[in-house]
Amino acid sequence: MGFVGSNLACSLKAKYPGYTIIAFDNLKRRGSELNLTRLRENGIIFIHGDIRNKADFDEIGKVDCIIDAAAEPSVLAGIDGSPEYLIDTNLNGTINTLYFANKHKADFIFLSTSRVYPIPQIDKINFTETETRFEIAKEQSLSGITTSGIAENFPIEGARSFYGATKLASELFVKEFNEFTGLKTVINRCGVIAGPWQMGKIDQGVTVLWVARHFFKKPLSYIGFGVTGKQVRDALHVNDLFELVDWQIPNIAKVSGETFNAGGGNVCSFSLKELTLLCQEITGNKIEITSVKETRNADIRIYITDNAKVTKACGWKPRTEPKKLVADIYQWLKTNEIQLHSILN
Ligand SMILES: NC(=O)c1ccc[n+]([C@@H]2O[C@H](COP(=O)([O-])OP(=O)(O)OC[C@H]3O[C@@H](n4cnc5c(N)ncnc54)[C@H](O)[C@@H]3O)[C@@H](O)[C@H]2O)c1
Repeated sequence: MGFVGSNLACSLKAKYPGYTIIAFDNLKRRGSELNLTRLRENGIIFIHGDIRNKADFDEIGKVDCIIDAAAEPSVLAGIDGSPEYLIDTNLNGTINTLYFANKHKADFIFLSTSRVYPIPQIDKINFTETETRFEIAKEQSLSGITTSGIAENFPIEGARSFYGATKLASELFVKEFNEFTGLKTVINRCGVIAGPWQMGKIDQGVTVLWVARHFFKKPLSYIGFGVTGKQVRDALHVNDLFELVDWQIPNIAKVSGETFNAGGGNVCSFSLKELTLLCQEITGNKIEITSVKETRNADIRIYITDNAKVTKACGWKPRTEPKKLVADIYQWLKTNEIQLHSILN
């Protein structure tokens, strides 16, 4: 059970104790096993299974709603080695999950990503530079980009990483099932998601990685983009994502077939440099940050979500600001230091 899935499951069960909630995971992600105790304590059923294998779904039985949060979530996956596991899980696995949803006519909430937007298009975003970060400039030539961030009509032509491609291809199948089998579906394209119980690592989960390295006093690097640490992301607190999903589950008929960008937006965005300052303030530790000149493959300078469409349709917007996000992660690290030491240190 991964970071997003386990948090959504626990939050749903806490709010609706009468719901039967099943977590289905092959425990591929290191640290996911730590969630098992937590899930059990919260009354959530765990089934060990692999979304690549259709037969594994038989164990689950009938369900009313599926939140598809099982994936290989790293943008770097498959770029240096074989993309096979990534494609089998993120694309074929989603299709298997759609077969399963269709069998039970279960509603389907798909967690997609901002990485469906192509890297060459993101590279064309005009930006300015302040003391601590890159910012989206007022003047832009592309559609779907303003100082509010990237909207759903941002151009979609161009390469986006194997990861982004598997998620976009999955989205296409979600749409087909919606149109031709009558499944009720909704797609949320999230930027960075962060919060407690994320097993942050070098290639995925940057916010937790950053806080954890400060907490455990281990070094970090600014990579690429002039090594100033000014690259910017928005980050959505997983509790804020829960509020969106909590609205969408009972209201899915109102937004069925829709695709939304949903992220931290301008409410919660930071550059690495700003994140460093926050981590110093909250952990009280200052660590060595080295520089790696070459920009990493598939990396991007800036991503901020324009939440206008999702706010209009679902009445939802992100609420958590960066300081609270970092403080929540720090608190989680402190409370679970012994358990997390071997995974995040
Ligand atoms: N975390 C983010 O910043 C972020 C941002 C945008 C979108 N998303 C999407 O949200 C979803 C959840 O991501 P996360 O951050 O919780 O990642 P995560 O790695 O913490 O969780 C994914 C879970 O999927 C499981 N898994 C991997 N392959 C599997 C397979 N073949 N069969 C069954 N289970 C398998 C892993 O064991 C892991 O527990 C993903 O679809 C991801 O693409 C995440």
